[in-house]
Parts: sequence; C-alpha cells; structure tokens
Amino acid sequence: MKSDNKSSKIKKSEVYIKSSSDSIDKEAEELILESAGYPFNFALLEGPHLEISDNVLFEQYAIEQWSGTLVKTGSYLFDQKIIPDYAFKVLKVFPENSIISENTSIVVADVDKDKRSSIKSKQYDVHFDDIVGQENAKSKSKLIYKYLQNPDKFGTWAPKNVLFYGAPGTGKTMLAKALANELDIRLYLVKSTSLIGEHVGDAASRIHELFEAASRNAPSLIFIDEIDAIALHRSFQSLRGDVAEIVNSLLTEMDGISPNDGVVTIAATNNPSAIDFAIRSRFEEEIEFKLPSDDERREIIMLNLDTFPLDYDLDIEKLVKVSKRMSGRDIKEKLLKTALHNAIINDKQTVDMDDVAFALGVNKYKEEEVKGMFE
Ligand SMILES: Nc1ncnc2c1ncn2[C@@H]1O[C@H](COP(=O)(O)OP(=O)(O)O)[C@@H](O)[C@H]1O
Ligand SMILES: [Mg+2]
Repeated sequence: MKSDNKSSKIKKSEVYIKSSSDSIDKEAEELILESAGYPFNFALLEGPHLEISDNVLFEQYAIEQWSGTLVKTGSYLFDQKIIPDYAFKVLKVFPENSIISENTSIVVADVDKDKRSSIKSKQYDVHFDDIVGQENAKSKSKLIYKYLQNPDKFGTWAPKNVLFYGAPGTGKTMLAKALANELDIRLYLVKSTSLIGEHVGDAASRIHELFEAASRNAPSLIFIDEIDAIALHRSFQSLRGDVAEIVNSLLTEMDGISPNDGVVTIAATNNPSAIDFAIRSRFEEEIEFKLPSDDERREIIMLNLDTFPLDYDLDIEKLVKVSKRMSGRDIKEKLLKTALHNAIINDKQTVDMDDVAFALGVNKYKEEEVKGMFE
C-alpha cells in the first residue's frame, strides 16, 4: 500500500516535469497555508470553521492528497477528501515554485477571528422605512432590534425564535434584511433547501455549522427562508427520508441557544401548516404577513415609481384597483417592471396606461392562489 502510494506520487511529479518547459524539480521544504474557504458563496454565508486538531496528522493528510503538486506563493490548493473544494491559499512556500513531497513540512496558519468576521460580513441596502405595512412584524422586529443591541438586559426574557408566515412577496425576506442592516449585525440568511446536501448527514452538519457560526459572531440573526421545505410536517415525512434527521438537528440547535446568547432565529414560510409541529411549537410567536391594502398598494406603487428611469403618466387610482390581491413583489416585478420595459422597448419617453394594460395582459394574474404543493 505504502509503496503504491509512493509510485503514484513520483508519477505525478514526473508528469509535471515533462509538460513543463523549464525543468523545475525542487522539493518544497516548508509550506504555510491559510484556510481560504469555498470558491463561491452559497447560502450559508460562512464556510466551515476549520480547526486543525492535530498538526502532524494534518500534514500527513495534506501530503497524501497534494504530493506532486507545484506550489508558489498565492496559489491555491483544494481539498478533495473531507471538505471537497475547500480552498487553502499558499501564504508562503520555500523554496518558491517547488513541489510538495513527503518531506514537505506543511502548516495551516491561524487566521484570527476578527479577520474572518470582516471578510464574511454582508450588508443589504434595505431599511425599515422601505417596508410598507406589516406593522405587527415591524414592531416585533423593533423588539428583536432592542434585544440584539443589548442582549444581557433581557435575562431569560429574550426573544428567541419567531415565525414569519404569509403569501409570497409580502416582505418577509425584506424585513429580515432591513433588520440586519439597521442593526449592523451579522445576518445568516439561509434558504432552507441549501441546507440539504448530497449525502446523509450533510444537512445536520450544515445546520450545526450555521448555529455555531451565529453563536460565535453574536449578536446575530439567523433567517431560515422557506422552512417548510425542510421542516416538513410529520405526515409528509415519509415522502423524504432525510427529513427526520433535519428536523431533529434543527430542534437540537434551536434548543441549544440559551436565552441570552444574543442569537435570534427567524424562519419564514408561505405555508405554516406544512411545518413539523415540534418545530412549530418552538416559535414563541407567529407573525402573519398580509397582502397589501388599497392604501398600502398606493404607497408601494409610489415608492417604486420614485425610482423609475423614465417619466410616467399614470392613473394611480386605477393602478391601485388593478393591483388588488397582488403582493408587493407582484406590483414591482409583474406590473410596474413589465410596463416600464414595454415602454423602453417601444422607444417611449413616458410610461403610460397602455404599458400597464400590456403588463396586465402578459401577466394574467391568477385569482386562485397557488396553495403550496402539499395541500
Ligand atoms: N411590504 C412591502 N413593502 C414594500 N415592498 C415590498 C413589500 N413586500 C414586498 N415588496 C417588494 O417585493 C420584493 C420581494 O419581497 P420579499 O421580502 O422577498 O417577499 P417574501 O415575503 O416572499 O420574502 C421586495 O424586495 C420589495 O421590492
Ligand atoms: Mg422570501
């Protein structure tokens, strides 16, 4: 086994040398790596928190997979075993442009937490004032705001888990972003389907990482969007084998946060009745997001028209009327945007009611609401 390994290592370096124009065959003596994370962001804003438990073991592990690889300062090495595609950046290698061999000493530099935090922080350009209506949700958010500013003051009376529910496009995600923005704290915005991995156990470890990262960076806010997709009601759990595992790890993590840890979890769903009842019972409050009233739709329309890149000549009251039963998102994306785009396509300087008529024709708004796939 050992000799097999060796021969494959030698082969790799030989291949490299042959294909290279200059004959580099220096062995790397010393290699210092920095953990760099994944090459792209996925919904879990933060990659796994890496802690090397045993330097000697890690070196062995690294040599096993990277032996024969040419490294230079600034290049990257990707893990292929435990955390596939996780990147390590080469901070320093001696000599420059050398090849990893079994004699290379490899260490991972300790990146301090502050640096890690500043790399990952994410800001949204959304404010409380941008959200029309949803007064209940806004006052609950104000409470959460006060708590996260001063978690110690609340003792055991802290807000912990809150459920936002209601029709799609009514401002649930928007409010979570505004909250994180106003507070200038870390928001872990997770689309629940992104927690499901390819392998059994992936979801449990991602959920654990999520809560662990949020605790480490408290005060912080976890927002789990579309939670019904993973925390399915028991009667649907036979449809998907891994659901019980996910539900259990969510329960464990939600219960693991102590009241004054400074971590609040908000979950959102269009369909609260599809949520597992044990999970649902963990939410101290369920806040409904309603479709906008006439006045609220007028306000949403005016707010959006303020940012129009063309002039407009529109009958606002008529717009309020035709947008009945539309959500804030529908008003923006289906009504106003389609009208605006139609005017642009037709080289018009002004958006008018003809463009609105076009938008209404294109996006025939369905009277029957889609009730969600499980009803
Ligand atoms: N109450 C609202 N006030 C203003 N704009 C809204 C409101 N609700 C939805 N919108 C518009 O619709 C978009 C999508 O809303 P979002 O928060 O993602 O809905 P969801 O409830 O599905 O999470 C927002 O970015 C915003 O442009
Ligand atoms: Mg949303």
